[in-house]
Amino acid sequence: MGKIQAPLVGAEPYEVIVTGSTTVNLHNLVATFFQPTSERNKILADELNFPSDIYALKSQLRIHGLDPDENLVFVKSRDGRLLEEEDIISKMTEDVALIILPGVLYRSGQLLDMALLTKEAHNRGIAIGFDCSHSVGAVPHYFSQWDVDFAFWCNYKYLNNGPGGTAGLYVNKKHFAKEIGLAGWWGYRKDKQFDMVPEFERAESAGAWQIGTINMLSSAPLEGSLRMYEEAGIEHLRVKSLKATSYLIYLIDELLPEEKYGYKIGTPRQPERRGGHVALEHDEALRINAALKKRGVMPDFRYPNVIRLAPVPLYVSFHEIWKLVQHLKEIVDTKEYEKFAKKSAPVA
Ligand SMILES: Cc1ncc(COP(=O)(O)O)c(C=O)c1O
Repeated sequence: MGKIQAPLVGAEPYEVIVTGSTTVNLHNLVATFFQPTSERNKILADELNFPSDIYALKSQLRIHGLDPDENLVFVKSRDGRLLEEEDIISKMTEDVALIILPGVLYRSGQLLDMALLTKEAHNRGIAIGFDCSHSVGAVPHYFSQWDVDFAFWCNYKYLNNGPGGTAGLYVNKKHFAKEIGLAGWWGYRKDKQFDMVPEFERAESAGAWQIGTINMLSSAPLEGSLRMYEEAGIEHLRVKSLKATSYLIYLIDELLPEEKYGYKIGTPRQPERRGGHVALEHDEALRINAALKKRGVMPDFRYPNVIRLAPVPLYVSFHEIWKLVQHLKEIVDTKEYEKFAKKSAPVA
């Protein structure tokens, strides 16, 4: 299935594999790519990254006997929403061995300049990998052209695979000779996997980073979804997605002035810095989110004040975006949100 997913990330078919879950894939790749030395022993990440990634990175450092407080370096955000590429680059110091960053930030929807960051990391001899959970299926990637070292993502956002659906990973072919950090029989050369030989002989592809049997039931529907993406083409979907998020931002600006309605856009306004969702901030985000759900909209709340709105280009129409903004207006006009508890559900 990596073959059908490869065009979504701009990679060779054998550089992509569907396997594991996002966090497990991160562990797996860091176990391979993080080989600290006395000179280079730090991992660079950002303070806005998805917490699971941070937990994984800290535990990987501990496995190497390193102290996460010392060896995990964070790029700080200037405003709590966005990251500036120049701030990230300034943290690429000589002691950094590995960089892990998001492609699109899960909360604000900011798209990072992965090409520039990869180039700057490589200029300093640092390997770089991206968590593309919020960018895969939303924006085109050109991993081969950018020369990214590796990437990992979940397939359950834009790619419709449902929560916990089998995830994906990419490894640049130049790294195929590397020793696999977490080996398993599904990483064995595919033509001989069932020969059951105790000596590990790695697959000559990203398939070497598979560990055990993949979940067939959760992988099968992904194929159907990927076929639709193949037919539509990610470049076309990006064009519609940018029109959709621009239209949504325009309607919010025009119809819901901040002084009256209290809504604020937390996503970059420059289209080239935007992924596929809009982060709408409001002091009552939690309860407005609940009211939207009651009205049949599928938003997503992120603590403390963000409603994520993703007008997914494959199936959300411009009319639905207009209707969404009417809901946002009415919910505040009538104070409908006051009917909902100020308590978040365990799953957003
Ligand atoms: C950006 C990001 N990274 C990592 C994860 C963790 O995914 P998983 O539960 O598949 O490990 C998620 C889950 O939603 C995510 O959004």
